[in-house]
Amino acid sequence: MKFSFMPIAALAFASLSVAQDVTSTNVGEQIRFDAEHNATSLVGTWSSGSRAVMTGPQFANPSNLSFNYPLNTGVSYSFTEDGWYEISRYRFNSNAIDPGCMTGLIFWVHGQYQMLSNDSLYMIPNGDGFQQIQNRCNALSNQILDYNETELYNSWRIYTDPTDGFKLHLFQFDGTPVAPQFQISSTPQMLPKAMLRAPPTQILRRRGNGAEQRLTDISWTFVSTGMAMVLATVALSTL
Ligand SMILES: *[C@@H]1O[C@H](CO)[C@@H](O)[C@H](O)[C@H]1NC(C)=O
Ligand SMILES: *[C@@H]1O[C@H](CO)[C@@H](O)[C@H](O)[C@H]1NC(C)=O
Ligand SMILES: *[C@@H]1O[C@H](CO)[C@@H](O)[C@H](O)[C@H]1NC(C)=O
Ligand SMILES: *[C@@H]1O[C@H](CO)[C@@H](O)[C@H](O)[C@H]1NC(C)=O
Repeated sequence: MKFSFMPIAALAFASLSVAQDVTSTNVGEQIRFDAEHNATSLVGTWSSGSRAVMTGPQFANPSNLSFNYPLNTGVSYSFTEDGWYEISRYRFNSNAIDPGCMTGLIFWVHGQYQMLSNDSLYMIPNGDGFQQIQNRCNALSNQILDYNETELYNSWRIYTDPTDGFKLHLFQFDGTPVAPQFQISSTPQMLPKAMLRAPPTQILRRRGNGAEQRLTDISWTFVSTGMAMVLATVALSTL
């Protein structure tokens, strides 16, 4: 396992609620397509580092709020020609007070993006994104949460790396770069461009026997209006 040690505050990464009156253009309109932007098209699937994390069905299953844990941490973005994006992310954050108590974050979201005329990318989530946050030392803090934040990326660049080929750099709203991603496929590998689960009005409640339950044996009860569905055990043997 490769861990990336980031401040806990970074859990709130890459998300920013942006006023809805943002001026946007249609995809492709007024965009400066120069050597920095279209060494190749943004369209396709991109993945960082060891390329262990990918968008698409092998990572997340929104219908039952489950993840397949990749062998390594990383981030992956996909973009379609017709304006859809999908993001998969898997990372660990260290705990400054107790280094043994790492927090894991696994995350999936999709929606529609706009290329703004000033070079920024604006991503509007579809409403079915979700994330799981895990703390090795506090079983009660393990939880599945909705994720439906709009995201603004100040700018993006695509370079051609002599050994690794096309490389995508995204810069978050505060200028922080996202880990460079390599092109996995020029055809986006994504889940269907549709609402993939019920609206997030349900409450997730931990089921089982309290704080002594080990992280390798987490069960959840999915409580919604008039319906309860037990989510299967999430095996985290690689932690
Ligand atoms: C980059 O964009 C320019 C202008 O639209 C276009 O002529 C060129 O073919 C594009 N290059 C690639 C690799 O897509
Ligand atoms: C998700 O966020 C978008 C953009 O802010 C909003 O239009 C949509 O209603 C939200 N969906 C849910 C289910 O909260
Ligand atoms: C680009 O324009 C949008 C919408 O006006 C704005 O929110 C964003 O901050 C701008 N990006 C930069 C890098 O200034
Ligand atoms: C979610 O559904 C998929 C596909 O039916 C299944 O393979 C997976 O085991 C399920 N996961 C959980 C946690 O229920």
